[in-house]
Amino acid sequence: MSTSSQFLFLSLIVIWFISVLAFGATTIHPDEKKALEAIAESLGKKDWNFDIDPCSNKPNWATPKPTPLTPRLSIVENNVTCNCSVAGDNFCHVVSITLKGQNLPGTLPPELSRLHYLQIIDLSRNYLNGTIPKEWGSMTNLLNMYDLSLIFLIGTLPSNRLTGSIPVEIANISTLIQLDLTANQISDNIPRELGNLTQIRTLRLSSNNFTGELPATLAKLTALLDFQISDNHFSGKIPDFIQNWTNINSLSIQGSGLSGPIPSEISLLRNLTDVRISDLNGSEYAPLPQFNNMPLLKNLILRNCKINGKLHDYLGTITTLKHLDLSFNNISGTIPSTYAETSGVKFIFLTGNLLTGLLPPWKKNIDV
Ligand SMILES: *[C@@H]1O[C@H](CO)[C@@H](O)[C@H](O)[C@H]1NC(C)=O
Ligand SMILES: *[C@@H]1O[C@H](CO)[C@@H](O)[C@H](O)[C@H]1NC(C)=O
Ligand SMILES: *[C@@H]1O[C@H](CO)[C@@H](O)[C@H](O)[C@H]1NC(C)=O
Ligand SMILES: *[C@@H]1O[C@H](CO)[C@@H](O)[C@H](O)[C@H]1NC(C)=O
Ligand SMILES: *[C@@H]1O[C@H](CO)[C@@H](O)[C@H](O)[C@H]1NC(C)=O
Ligand SMILES: *[C@@H]1O[C@H](CO)[C@@H](O)[C@H](O)[C@H]1NC(C)=O
Ligand SMILES: *[C@@H]1O[C@H](CO)[C@@H](O)[C@H](O)[C@H]1NC(C)=O
Ligand SMILES: *[C@@H]1O[C@H](CO)[C@@H](O)[C@H](O)[C@H]1NC(C)=O
Ligand SMILES: *[C@@H]1O[C@H](CO)[C@@H](O)[C@H](O)[C@H]1NC(C)=O
Ligand SMILES: *[C@@H]1O[C@H](CO)[C@@H](O)[C@H](O)[C@H]1NC(C)=O
Repeated sequence: MSTSSQFLFLSLIVIWFISVLAFGATTIHPDEKKALEAIAESLGKKDWNFDIDPCSNKPNWATPKPTPLTPRLSIVENNVTCNCSVAGDNFCHVVSITLKGQNLPGTLPPELSRLHYLQIIDLSRNYLNGTIPKEWGSMTNLLNMYDLSLIFLIGTLPSNRLTGSIPVEIANISTLIQLDLTANQISDNIPRELGNLTQIRTLRLSSNNFTGELPATLAKLTALLDFQISDNHFSGKIPDFIQNWTNINSLSIQGSGLSGPIPSEISLLRNLTDVRISDLNGSEYAPLPQFNNMPLLKNLILRNCKINGKLHDYLGTITTLKHLDLSFNNISGTIPSTYAETSGVKFIFLTGNLLTGLLPPWKKNIDV
């Protein structure tokens, strides 16, 4: 090399070094690259190109979302995102992995726990099987506020087939805000320890094979907004402690295995918008709880819930209510004339009860 080209070369190195200091590095931490290799192996993810930096946002590390014109394709998402300043170590760190609807054939990778800044895992709608790794429970580092907060392992279309139980270690992820395990084959009791997830807002466990009673520790989940446990094999009653979930918007307990009656304390949950309870087990009957203090109530579905007694006059007049379904209960008496109010409920289903008297001639969308 001539002196001038040596000088040029050195200058370039100095410029590179200064820009790294000034603007931060733009490459992944080598440990995380190794972890991603193990993760790809476990998931059966074949199209990650390790010659390209995983934090580059380039194919196949991040694929732009399909346009909204193709909604059916929009269940396919492929996306690794990083943050290059989160650790202050001049490396980029993976903060989210979204691999949705990709027909991945493998198992859930324990190695995700080696991504210390991971906040979001979404592996929904693949063909993954096996169990939820207990190692995920260690993805919690109280020194950083970027702990894992969202886990989506939804099984539907196509179909993840996760089995085994929820590892107790998951309850150590105290930053967890959403856990969605809908439509897998996860079994056993819900661990008592899940009551420690006091930040959790969304807990969706519908369409699995859960058994046992809901543990009383769940009373501590007062941040809950959305709780779904339909289509399972739980036992015991719908617990009174749901009264502690004062922020809840959406409650779905359809064909869960739980028995009635619906606790009257449900009346205290003023923020409810969607209540979907159906097909309660057991033989105990009770009157309809009060739903007159819920200013946001939109859907009230209490089908086959062993409700007896009379219809409340006010129900037909709730202006926010779109859907009222009280079918297949043991409700008796006549339909109050207030149900005719045009400003009230749009669709009413009352079939399969013991209602008597004349059908009101007024309502179009009523099914008695
Ligand atoms: C990638 O993931 C992040 C975090 O989940 C999300 O905010 C972003 O919109 C995603 N981008 C694409 C193209 O899917
Ligand atoms: C990356 O992390 C830094 C520091 O924790 C944070 O301030 C910043 O908002 C993050 N960047 C992105 C794009 O999330
Ligand atoms: C997962 O599925 C594969 C075939 O797709 C099968 O060979 C393997 O035994 C399954 N593992 C479990 C734990 O079900
Ligand atoms: C959960 O964390 C606590 C405190 O950090 C620790 O003592 C315990 O062993 C952890 N439990 C599991 C199951 O990882
Ligand atoms: C988690 O819950 C269990 C059982 O409910 C309890 O014994 C334990 O102390 C809790 N752990 C933490 C770290 O809060
Ligand atoms: C679900 O649980 C029931 C009863 O515990 C068991 O007989 C059945 O085999 C389980 N099904 C699956 C798919 O695990
Ligand atoms: C649930 O609410 C009841 C009544 O407000 C209260 O006595 C009880 O301590 C609460 N339980 C928990 C676990 O927060
Ligand atoms: C609840 O009722 C359904 C339908 O009758 C039945 O298949 C199921 O075994 C019952 N579950 C329990 C826990 O009793
Ligand atoms: C209900 O929702 C409102 C508005 O979103 C919120 O301010 C309030 O804290 C929530 N909880 C209760 C118990 O009203
Ligand atoms: C159902 O309603 C009828 C008529 O009111 C009543 O005779 C019967 O005892 C009720 N059955 C139950 C289980 O509440």
